[in-house]
Amino acid sequence: MSLETKQREQWGSRVAFILAAAGSAVGLGNIWRFPYVVGTNGGAAFVIIYLFIIALIGYPMMVTEMAIGQKTKRNAIGAFRDLAPNTPWWVAGALGVLAGFVILSFYSVVAGWTLSYFFKTLAGDLGVGTDFVGTFIGHITSDWAPLFWHFVFMGLTLGIIGLGVVKGIEKTVKILMPALFVLLIALVGRALTLPGAGAGVEFLIKPDFSKITAQSILGAVGQAFFTLSLGMGCMITYGSYLDDKENINDNAAWVVGLDTAVALIAGFAIFPAVFALGFDPAAGGGLAFITLPAVFASMPGGTIFGAAFFLLLAVAALTSAISLLEVVVAYYIDEKGWSRQKASLIIGTLIFILGIPASLSMGRWSGFTILGYNFFDFLDFLQESILLPVGGLLTAIFAGYVWSAKKTREHSNINKSAIRLGTWFDVLIMYVSPIAVSVVMVTGLVDKLK
Ligand code: PHE
Ligand code: NA
Repeated sequence: MSLETKQREQWGSRVAFILAAAGSAVGLGNIWRFPYVVGTNGGAAFVIIYLFIIALIGYPMMVTEMAIGQKTKRNAIGAFRDLAPNTPWWVAGALGVLAGFVILSFYSVVAGWTLSYFFKTLAGDLGVGTDFVGTFIGHITSDWAPLFWHFVFMGLTLGIIGLGVVKGIEKTVKILMPALFVLLIALVGRALTLPGAGAGVEFLIKPDFSKITAQSILGAVGQAFFTLSLGMGCMITYGSYLDDKENINDNAAWVVGLDTAVALIAGFAIFPAVFALGFDPAAGGGLAFITLPAVFASMPGGTIFGAAFFLLLAVAALTSAISLLEVVVAYYIDEKGWSRQKASLIIGTLIFILGIPASLSMGRWSGFTILGYNFFDFLDFLQESILLPVGGLLTAIFAGYVWSAKKTREHSNINKSAIRLGTWFDVLIMYVSPIAVSVVMVTGLVDKLK
């Protein structure tokens, strides 16, 4: 059934792997999603909980997924089959493939907004005095423009994946990730010097734990998995293209560190501006698209600067989107024998179609709700509160008890690395992750559904 893996592609170098994995991690999750979930969950207290989850669950899980991939050289489903043949564990991978579908369908819609904001900024449509809230709502609630950009973005994504891992993915990330980083730092500089910015800094660093609920802790777990591309076989898939002599522990730390840095920097770019310019921190999914254009409008050279920013954000989204599509495509190539081109085209098209109701649910179809969510928010709820936590939980149990924590650790420790996993790793993967994730998930969902 599984095809021979001899001709499987490999990353060209260690740096290529880090950049690709960091490219997957760093995306809309950091710059669009992180600030808005921080805003709707009350600020600093949420950030602190999130950072604990990143360190205690995110890093060990990153190591685990990369190790499973590197060890088996298989896609998300095949990897579980390879390590535990003739058991139902492949279902853990199948959930990941499903999550790839779900996430990419709405992710591409948001990435489309980014592309459209690039052109709006370039055209000078977002200057001083613009109604930034109205412009954003107007855009996302319209029928055709967001669908057009969703189409363009999915076309780019499937085109790159059709070209293959090395040619498609590596080339894109090498140049553009560092540029985004530099631009973000400049943006923080501008936001922090706006009069009244201090309140935004305070919002990010002065915790008020009374704002924390079971639901917001589940939100922090969901955000941690989402932002690190965990719980859905993505890092298994990327790890499967990693040469056996490359180390995992340090690479995983780089990816987690870069992703966390970008999220925090985005927070410090956005919240000072939110407070200085009088926006609502709990505005939700429009936060970045409302606040940042306002900051650009307030700075000299804002047009060029803003356009560059939205272009780079679209690129960051693209390097994440290709990793989402790669999870699904790798499965169809490895296990079903499809050609890369066929898999990219068919699956990319299906995901585009699933994104259509997600986009229209912002406007014309907003009356249709599931559990009180419009279709877009329902897909996000599904991945954040169910698919990724369950996927992460199963991966932790699998690595801890089926493959065994000791083997996972030994595999990850084979090559020379600055970080050595000790028995602390076994404790985190066998007890801390599974217990914390299941408790948080059950209490969060009960809180939500009552
Ligand atoms: N980590 C990406 C982001 O932060 C999103 C993503 C989730 C990518 C899951 C791949 C897998 O934008
Ligand atoms: Na991220």
